[in-house]
Amino acid sequence: MGDLARLPLLEKAPTTHARLLAWVEEVAELTQPDRIHWVDGSEAENKKLTDELVEAGTLKRLNPETFPNSFAAFSDPADVARVEEQTFICSENERDAGFTNNWMAPAEMKQKLRGLFAGSMRGRTMYVIPFVMGHLDAEDPKFGVEITDSAYVVASMRIMARIGTDVLDRITQTDAFFVPALHSLGAPLEAGQADVAWPCNPDKWIVHFPEERSIWSFGSGYGGNALLGKKCYALRIASVMARDEGWLAEHMLILKLTSPEQKTYYVSAAFPSACGKTNLALLDPTIKGWKVETLGDDITWMRFGKEGELRAVNPEAGLFGVAPGTGWGTNPNAMRAIAKGNSIFTNVALTDDGGVWWEGMTEETPAHLTDWRGESWTPDSDTPAAHPNSRFCTPIDQIDMLAEEYFSPEGVELSAILFGGRRKTTIPLVTEARSWSNGIFMGSTLSSETTAAAAGAVGVVRRDPMAMLPFIGYDAGDYLNHWVNLSAKANPERLPKIFLVNWFRRTAEGGFAWPGFGDNARVLKWAIERLEGKADAVETPIGFVPTGESIDLEGLDMTPAEVEAAVRVDADEWATELASIEEWFANFGESLPAALQSELDGLKTRLG
Ligand code: GTP
Ligand code: MN
Ligand code: MN
Repeated sequence: MGDLARLPLLEKAPTTHARLLAWVEEVAELTQPDRIHWVDGSEAENKKLTDELVEAGTLKRLNPETFPNSFAAFSDPADVARVEEQTFICSENERDAGFTNNWMAPAEMKQKLRGLFAGSMRGRTMYVIPFVMGHLDAEDPKFGVEITDSAYVVASMRIMARIGTDVLDRITQTDAFFVPALHSLGAPLEAGQADVAWPCNPDKWIVHFPEERSIWSFGSGYGGNALLGKKCYALRIASVMARDEGWLAEHMLILKLTSPEQKTYYVSAAFPSACGKTNLALLDPTIKGWKVETLGDDITWMRFGKEGELRAVNPEAGLFGVAPGTGWGTNPNAMRAIAKGNSIFTNVALTDDGGVWWEGMTEETPAHLTDWRGESWTPDSDTPAAHPNSRFCTPIDQIDMLAEEYFSPEGVELSAILFGGRRKTTIPLVTEARSWSNGIFMGSTLSSETTAAAAGAVGVVRRDPMAMLPFIGYDAGDYLNHWVNLSAKANPERLPKIFLVNWFRRTAEGGFAWPGFGDNARVLKWAIERLEGKADAVETPIGFVPTGESIDLEGLDMTPAEVEAAVRVDADEWATELASIEEWFANFGESLPAALQSELDGLKTRLG
């Protein structure tokens, strides 16, 4: 880079890691930032960055009495969610990206990206963020380095992952492999040009190169597109690592359940975006004697342990939760974690006393707010005050109910796995799989109505295998085969039981067939009692559902007949569903695992 003034900055780089230095230099040369800043992750650094963000208008400091050390950000109205249409898996062979991903040849994509990134950081600071997903003391720690020109991304990554000097030192000392994750807002500043509060580019590209394990993200500042440790690394790239190394990277929460007899169980659950993971992970049980603790709310890495048990860890350090619907009534544990401060909110509404608000936070709607677009808002307004995909970003250790096992690199042994989606009809409240392989079938045919978490139409039913549709970093058929084949490493006695759940079924009158939230503990209780061989169930063509009496309804205004309605398997609905599953499986062609074809055949026979 010769004549450029940033060379001395690189010489002062806090690492001697040759590949890292070479990459930072190459990116600086390409993107031409004014400055390079190596992120140390310290309090002092965070204070300086957030002060600057407040000064720049990107962050608004919240009332320190109610929301200490917390900030609100408001995005460009066109940069509010993940952009699946613009997300690419650029494997060498198109076949390896599979039918669920967008693909472009790596060389062609690199050329395109180099054009976009050329000079894209002009006038800005280039931040270098060393991070680790999972534990620094894991057997094989998964390192990454994100380069970004967004200080908002730095401040958010500091909440969501372990970042900074300790991580960089470990990368340097062990000459570790790291995933290079390059991010630019794509909004260079020319000399004298005034900045905007939320710089971004209408042209957005979220690109993964699975073979070289690298990420290039351009044009968006939104979390799922820009905090590259999260969806891009811990799901898309990690799923490829997991395929090659014999483990699983999944879109799952992990919770710990303690029964009145003080027996503990660990449960993971995969639901598509905005379908209840964070809520279930932070569940406040409405039944006496049962205790829930949290280990994770979005991403789970799982592997079979030495004894063939399935072990799970949460690779993240924070919550990036959907704000609307998170309230003192529905999720007090999340509210308590948020109230401790140290949080960044994006696209929520502001109260007149410098706090935040969103639909469903409180029972009473404030008389006046400033909505996420910055407009004056009253309950008469006909648009929501907070964007439906507005988010809170909060350190996970602020959760009072965080299980101590969260801090253990060995993870926890799972007793049960739930798959769930948002379906108005057809799918019962809960169904126990007939077997492990039948459970994988349930996961592989998981379906949900689309939500605001991704750009595009809302409310359309789509298949979302294991809730991983937007996150599988390789061919979806290979992914299902990986699930099936991995089971060879399992101790059959210790395989978790699999359940399909649906908190969103409607009654004929249109209301929810099940109260949900804290009452979901009643479904967890039934699942655990099934593991223990204690609860009753009815065999149906799709699996085992609870009898009306087997769900604990104490303290709930609901009858066993209403439970029966919530778990009903309707022949007509299932005829339609079967056709839709067959259509879905047809996409896989040759790569559909034989075990899943035979599960489908079995279901067909049982449905008659
Ligand atoms: P991502 O973070 O995007 O992956 O989503 P998530 O799976 O964590 O979803 P989250 O828990 O944030 O829930 C999203 C929406 O579902 C919110 O609007 C909740 O109010 C609603 N929700 C969650 N649990 C329940 C439930 O048990 N019943 C009903 N009716 N709604 C629920
Ligand atoms: Mn998610
Ligand atoms: Mn969530």
